[in-house]
Order: sequence, then structure tokens, then C-alpha cells
Amino acid sequence: MENLEALKELAARAAVEYVKDGYVVGLGTGSTARYVVLALGQLVKAGLRIKGVPTSRETAELARQQGIPLIDQDNAWIIDVAIDGADQVDPSFNLIKGGGGALLKEKIVAASAKQFIVMVDHTKRVPVLGGAFPLPIEVIPFGWGSTAREIEALTKSRVVFRERNGASFKTEAGNLIVDVHIDRIDQPRDLEISLNQIPGIVETGLFVNRTDILIVGTPQGVQTEHAQRI
Ligand code: A5P
Repeated sequence: MENLEALKELAARAAVEYVKDGYVVGLGTGSTARYVVLALGQLVKAGLRIKGVPTSRETAELARQQGIPLIDQDNAWIIDVAIDGADQVDPSFNLIKGGGGALLKEKIVAASAKQFIVMVDHTKRVPVLGGAFPLPIEVIPFGWGSTAREIEALTKSRVVFRERNGASFKTEAGNLIVDVHIDRIDQPRDLEISLNQIPGIVETGLFVNRTDILIVGTPQGVQTEHAQRI
């Protein structure tokens, strides 16, 4: 059986090569982004001067342990490069993210970055988003049931309220997550626009037209592809 962890680490190490001295770096969340933080920690110990903007408490904690200086208080960053994982990537480099529930901060950081690098192992590439991986959507607790009903009506798909250890899953912003089981997302941009019209939705896990560079860990080595943002 192939070692996906090794492929994630391979992709993460390739991504870190885009980080230059003096950069402000958006630090993603999840098991692939974890390898980025570890690799950056080694470089910082060797003298690289960077500042990180973490996308979750978990990433912030790991970055601190690794000696990476953070600027999580400032809210008007100019981020040179943001590096993050994804749950699915389609042929146009659109993504589903939010498996770990950090999609809101991840999208804010990706949107503030001059360059957004996504790293995945090759199993995350799909011909069309959806299917095996449900779309996470962050919703305000107030009236979340009505919001979920609207999402269900729009997508004609099953909406599952996310729980953890028998309690509702709370995001770092204090919101809830619903996971939408959509068979195929053929028009991710249109779906994102329509979902954003529903009151109560804070953010969706659809990352459309945001990727600049995709780095894929494969058994044959690392593949790097440059996206044309439209
Ligand atoms: C966190 O909320 C997610 O968006 C992650 O970036 C995504 O789930 C990828 O995580 P892994 O690298 O752990 O697969």
C-alpha cells in the first residue's frame, strides 16, 4: 500500500521552496500543512526570517513550538505566499476545503495572499468536485436549521450537521458546519455565488479560482502545475 503521508510530506517540502527570506507566509491547516510548518521551522532555526499567519489555533500552536514568529493579531496583512492543503482538486484547480473545519480563516488568508500554493497527495485530484467528499459550509448558529433547509433546497442534496464527540462541531469563530453531500459540482463558481446568497451562510468550502500553484505528491515524485487565475 502506498504511503500517503510520505507523498504529503514530499509535496509540502516542494511548497516550502517558494518561501523567501523576509516573507509573510500564510500557514494552512491539516495534515499536509503540518509538514509545511515543520519544514519552515527547520529553516527558521537555520536563519530564515519569516512571519507566519496561521489559519487555526492548531497551526498557531505548532508554529510557535517550531519557533516561527506569528502575526496573528494584525488584521491587515500583506501575505507573500499562503500554503495549504485541500480535500479535493478539480482539473481547473478549484478546491473543496474545510474537512478540518478551518475553511473560514483559510479562505481569508488565501484571499489576502499574493500567491496561493496548494499541496495534495495525488488521491485528492478528481475529475469533478463532490461525490466522495461532502462540501463543508460554515453557518451561523442562529436559525441554522432554516439555513440548512435552504441549502438542501438549492443543492437538492443531503445536508448533514457536523458533530464531534456527540456534540455540535464549533468552528474557531463559534459557528457550525454542515456537510453537503453533492454528487457532482459541475459549476463550482455558480454554486459558490448561489450559496453566498443564502442568509446564515458565513463561508463555503469551495475555493474557486484561487489556486496559483498546485503541487502534487505522486509515487513518481512531485508534479508542479501553474494555474491561470481568470
Ligand atoms: C482544513 O479545514 C482543511 O481545509 C484542510 O486544509 C484540508 O482538509 C486538507 O487537510 P489534509 O491535508 O489533512 O488532508
